[in-house]
Amino acid sequence: MNDATAMPRQAPLDLPPEEFRRLGHALVDRIADFLARLPELPVTRGERAADLRKLLPQGALPTSGSPADPLLTEAAQLLFDHSLFNGHPRFWGYITSSAAPLGALADMLAAAVNPNVGSFDLSPIATEIERQTVRWIAELIGFPSDSGGVLVSGGNMANFVCVLAARRTMLPWNAREQGVVGADGRTARIYASTATHTWIDKAVDLFGFGAGALAKIATQKDERIDVAALEKQIALDRAAGRVPIMVVATAGTVSTGAVDPIAALADLCAREKLWLHVDGAYGGFAARAPSAPSDLTALTRADSVAIDPHKWLYVPLEAGCALVKNATQLRDAFSFRPPYYRFEDEGAQFYELGMQNSRGFRALKVWLGLRQAGEQGCLRMIEDDMALSRKLRAEVEKHADLQPMTQALSICTFRYAPHDLKRGDPAVETYLSQLNERVLGELQAGGEAYVSNAVLGGAYVLRACIVNFRTTDTDVAALPAIVMRLGKKLDTELRPAALRS
Ligand SMILES: Cc1ncc(COP(=O)(O)O)c(C=O)c1O
Repeated sequence: MNDATAMPRQAPLDLPPEEFRRLGHALVDRIADFLARLPELPVTRGERAADLRKLLPQGALPTSGSPADPLLTEAAQLLFDHSLFNGHPRFWGYITSSAAPLGALADMLAAAVNPNVGSFDLSPIATEIERQTVRWIAELIGFPSDSGGVLVSGGNMANFVCVLAARRTMLPWNAREQGVVGADGRTARIYASTATHTWIDKAVDLFGFGAGALAKIATQKDERIDVAALEKQIALDRAAGRVPIMVVATAGTVSTGAVDPIAALADLCAREKLWLHVDGAYGGFAARAPSAPSDLTALTRADSVAIDPHKWLYVPLEAGCALVKNATQLRDAFSFRPPYYRFEDEGAQFYELGMQNSRGFRALKVWLGLRQAGEQGCLRMIEDDMALSRKLRAEVEKHADLQPMTQALSICTFRYAPHDLKRGDPAVETYLSQLNERVLGELQAGGEAYVSNAVLGGAYVLRACIVNFRTTDTDVAALPAIVMRLGKKLDTELRPAALRS
């Protein structure tokens, strides 16, 4: 029954459905225009933070609110005019993919319904969608479909979840009671190559092991871990009374895309009874791509894998995934059941499988992307990126003043190195590193194309990582000419007299 005296509530954040519809349609139109114009826009305008700050409202938080329409228009304009566009066909920096447009709509839908995917009870269909998404990701890389898994914000978090599952499983004492030092004073040892992404340094610090627990094993020249050196280190540690627990392999290093000898590491871990974790944040989704290195397929032998849908599945940020082969080991690491949660055992309770309690519905954009492309579509996009990277290498090889360095997965590294300079000479090498750092600075600020850098054997090099379904042959072919132009100009300005002929 209506209470005639009741005041209709008008919350400052509510939007009447008709206004929501109008604003939403207008925004989608603007986004569609933006996507259509993307190839013509500069990748970035290289603006300075101080200048950008001036574009934002000045002063303290406004005391009273503003209408939604102009706010949304202003926000869209700020983003379209002052962003770096990782969806641009010529963006190849770091490992950040172009984002599938359907993912943007998925995020809007997820936010509108707003299920809390911490618990099945609070997110019935969303939980089931996440369960299916995790299963499909496992299947896509050849991991068992009954593995434990959880979606997280990205590669760092996915690796963290796996380390915590290993910590709980592999320490010979009860880590939950005892912490990371045994009652007898013994401490754990974790092994990873020097080419491992910096998440490992954060992990040993954050999870109480301390930096001393991490044995950084040398790599061969190709950035792949030296397995013999690893084996030697494990023996030394056991002799010293330490407790080896896990080996971290990388399937696609951040600098060059190198894949560790995972099969050999799996053999070693089986012999030594160690947990094998594979950081496949970048390369994992290529595991079943026909031209991927054979070592990548061996990631199926790992105890856990971290993998990033927001990298080579082209899902908009953020989406990572932790997979643990033995689902019970994942749950054991994270499950607490406080009295104020009376969730039934019906369905998954994702708060028991990871670090988050309340959780958003990031699975939706991954699930829709997987279905839109299908398994074959996913693998084809990865194959295309790898082929484009090989093409870039071939283009670089055509220029005497460019030096190709490495090519693996979809990463190609090279540098501007004028042919009249004696490569390998220490003074020349120092200069070439300075020169390439300047080339990169101008390239990144210029907006024509965007790559990042790697340091290989002390040499500063340019690094293009193609995880971009918009990149074409023409885009790739354009990069060497841009680098040559900038390199020539800067070399004329910067070359020291001693190196002039
Ligand atoms: C091999 C590897 N592992 C982990 C990460 C961290 O991933 P995220 O930035 O999604 O946390 C990266 C990022 O590039 C990476 O290349």
